[in-house]
Amino acid sequence: MAEENKGLGDLICTYDTAADEAMGKRESHTPRIEAPDVVKADEAFEIKVSVGPHPNKVEHSIRWIEVYFREEGRDFNPLVLARVAFTPAYSEPKVALWLNLRKSGTIFALQYCNVHGLWSAEKDVGVE
Ligand SMILES: [Fe+2]
Repeated sequence: MAEENKGLGDLICTYDTAADEAMGKRESHTPRIEAPDVVKADEAFEIKVSVGPHPNKVEHSIRWIEVYFREEGRDFNPLVLARVAFTPAYSEPKVALWLNLRKSGTIFALQYCNVHGLWSAEKDVGVE
């Protein structure tokens, strides 16, 4: 598919869809989501999202991370859970969040590198 005909979703790389890229580039850009596999409904729990190791200079750095949630059974998805912007050289692309979920679903982390574009990852979380 020609680059100019792609929609926004087609322009988001994942570890798997960027299989033709160098392994180092895939590993250094795919967000890592640390979250429990199962949580209790309405009981706050911590997740961590990080990217790297990756250059952290004005000319090349991770500029922001956003975290979304696709909730099972919800009419309109996703929910935006958090949005964090980073200042090159001063802040590292690592965030910790506390979430309260009522239904199972999928957490998505999206990050933007000013040179290598948008990269995402996902993690299922069950609510019991
Ligand atoms: Fe990059």
